[in-house]
Amino acid sequence: MATTAAAAPHATRRDFLLIATGATGAVGAAFAAWPFVAALSPDAETIAAGAPVDVDLGPIAAGQIVKVFWRGKIIFVRHRTDAEIKAAEDVNLASLPDPQPDSARVKAGHANFLVVYGNCTHLGCVPNQDTERFKGWFCPCHGSIFDTSGRVRGGPAPINLPVPPYTFVSDTKVRIGEETKTAAKAA
Ligand code: FES
Repeated sequence: MATTAAAAPHATRRDFLLIATGATGAVGAAFAAWPFVAALSPDAETIAAGAPVDVDLGPIAAGQIVKVFWRGKIIFVRHRTDAEIKAAEDVNLASLPDPQPDSARVKAGHANFLVVYGNCTHLGCVPNQDTERFKGWFCPCHGSIFDTSGRVRGGPAPINLPVPPYTFVSDTKVRIGEETKTAAKAA
């Protein structure tokens, strides 16, 4: 809990919002100084059991990140600006430690929203939004750097921030914990 953006030099406090859910009341209290956004969540017992969590994207302004808790893990939901999307798409994949195109990390038609696990892939600290270098995240523990696609760009983190299962249930709502269903083929 102590490793939050609030304590780190690269954090921009206003750029972080917390979505509180019933299953994470203690964590929510620790971040109480930050603005809250209401989540469209099932009750605490259901969430604790691992149920999907719905997130209303409407209140998340371009350039902002919210934290959601799902199955006890922090999930970042980032509303990317056009510049952040372009930066993520223009990368030479051969230069990446864990090469992965941006298109493989977002949902088709929804490149403006990135959804990734919020723990550093080195030793699990919570990275802060980074306004320098690759404009993604910076891990204060040992200096790993992630870009606007959540891909590792420096430091000891071995792999990109993983993408959890999620789906868009509408243009303004994602459901974390449920993977996008592929459309049924016509007979
Ligand atoms: Fe993030 Fe070590 S835990 S760099």
